[in-house]
Amino acid sequence: MCGIVCYVGTKQAKPILLNGLKQLEYRGYDSAGIAIQRGTRVVRYRSVGKIEELERKLHDVTLPGNTGIAHTRWATHGEPSEHNAHPHTDQEKKVFVIHNGIIENFHTIKKKLEKDGIVFGSDTDTEVLAHLIAINFDGDLAEAVRKTMAQVEGTFGMAVLHKNVPDQIVVARRGSPLIIGISEDGHLAASDISAMVRYTDKVVHIEDNELAVLTRDDFSISTAQATLIKRDTERVEWTAEDAELNGFPHYMLKEIYEQPDTIRNAMRGRIELGEGVPKLGGIVPVWDKLKESRHLVIVGCGTSYYAGCVGRYIFERLTEIDVEVELASEFRYRKLNFPPNTFILALSQSGETADTLAAIREAKRKGANLLGIVNVVGSSISRETDAGVYNHAGPEIGVASTKIFTSQLTILTLLALLLGRHQNLSLTEGVTAIRALQALPEQVKQVLAQAHHIEAIAEKYHKYNNWLFLGRKYNFPIAMEGALKLKEISYIHAEGYAAGEMKHGPIALVSPNMPTVAIAPMDEMYEKMISNIQEIKSRRGPVIAIISRGDEKIREMVDEVIEIPCTLDYLYPILVVVPCQLLAYYCARFLGRDIDKPRNLAKSVTVE
Ligand code: G6P
Repeated sequence: MCGIVCYVGTKQAKPILLNGLKQLEYRGYDSAGIAIQRGTRVVRYRSVGKIEELERKLHDVTLPGNTGIAHTRWATHGEPSEHNAHPHTDQEKKVFVIHNGIIENFHTIKKKLEKDGIVFGSDTDTEVLAHLIAINFDGDLAEAVRKTMAQVEGTFGMAVLHKNVPDQIVVARRGSPLIIGISEDGHLAASDISAMVRYTDKVVHIEDNELAVLTRDDFSISTAQATLIKRDTERVEWTAEDAELNGFPHYMLKEIYEQPDTIRNAMRGRIELGEGVPKLGGIVPVWDKLKESRHLVIVGCGTSYYAGCVGRYIFERLTEIDVEVELASEFRYRKLNFPPNTFILALSQSGETADTLAAIREAKRKGANLLGIVNVVGSSISRETDAGVYNHAGPEIGVASTKIFTSQLTILTLLALLLGRHQNLSLTEGVTAIRALQALPEQVKQVLAQAHHIEAIAEKYHKYNNWLFLGRKYNFPIAMEGALKLKEISYIHAEGYAAGEMKHGPIALVSPNMPTVAIAPMDEMYEKMISNIQEIKSRRGPVIAIISRGDEKIREMVDEVIEIPCTLDYLYPILVVVPCQLLAYYCARFLGRDIDKPRNLAKSVTVE
């Protein structure tokens, strides 16, 4: 999705902005642009494709100036092209605007402005902002932005420069994240903390319908009605190194390998063997209500949704609570009718996914209590939920989510265990669960030690165009997640199915040309999975089976095996997903794909 980074201070803006844009690359984009101001002169450069293109253009250009705004665009209105790239400007080239989000009434505004003789230079919705701000400007840029905010509908995070207002940037937000960074030499603003961590760890969040004026020495936040707001600064827990590759060829591989640590971090300070009861400080504010609740709805998108699907089985196993899981994009449009004291649990790595945010807002309106499991501290979902648990997994940069998935599963297990122990779950079961959780980081390391073997399997099978992933119960969502990983980064078509549904359709596809990944650890569904594997083998379909260590029975039946250590039934998903991630990664690598930035996808989907 689009990215924003701005700087005003004593240093040269160009290197800070280009570096910031590179940190935002992972979000996905198709063009980029920059505007730098020196006194009353503003220069703008834009290019299609990678940031390196923009850098090449700027290589021989001296762009002195201590104030600037820069943007990565992900096309929504108008094709990816130089004239559609941001910053956009008005006819007299006085106002320069970058924008994330969608201006929903842009069509009406554009028509009206065109009638008044204004000629548009792009096909974007953003450009109306530049013209409106120019029209509304009478010397006070913040006031012009404020007036414009009242005229537009939709969502925005925007940053604005005016030629005649040197050394000042005005930023504004409605529905699209924006954060101010405070550094020794000035102020930054960005749509994502990772664009700023190299320069500061002190940030202030801007809320919806607020704007902020940034200068070298100061910043002020105010509402759309011009009321000044005082807000404390927060410290960012990530460092610049966390956002670097550290010798790995791709962020996705680095993040897959971080999982022993991120699973441990998800449990750090939260588990105690003694009573078999986890401690989750973040849910204390709602604990009295939560422990009485018997209805939970988990919402999320993409990989977070699949984590929720596993979560439902875990909650059913460990608690007395009825659990539903919903895609946030569907949930937000349903007629919601909850029993009293229902909790909605939002799962989101970024904490900014537009559909998930809209889903919790709708649920709040209907009187539900809100919980979140979120990775990005201070993100919109973390702030709008009543309570929650952070992943503390560091930045996830690869577009295909990996380490957050296993971290989400770990936290869902802790939450279910905590509630279960206050309901019917015995001490023995609690202690057994905690022992098994504690063993997970080491067990994931054992799976990672087979990376070369998985790479060899990928080498053999990456040319097959269609794959099937099968699993049952806890591992049915892993079949869907495994298929998602493969399709999103390798562009191989893959389907994830509940193995029991195979006879109702997918079996028609089975042939020597379609590999099946059968997720078949020795859990309660083991025998059923064996029957499914036999059905595929009798139709000469190649089978790659993910099995428990020492399982000779399946080994003899299938073409390839990947062994994982034994654990409790409901913890297997955390182990079996790792080979699925590696298989997708290596297939994509053999196919020469752009793994961290797969085509058409974005890390953080901040528009509907
Ligand atoms: C995008 C990403 C996925 C992610 C999903 C939900 O589609 O590419 O990797 O699972 O958004 O994101 P969230 O930040 O809410 O977990």
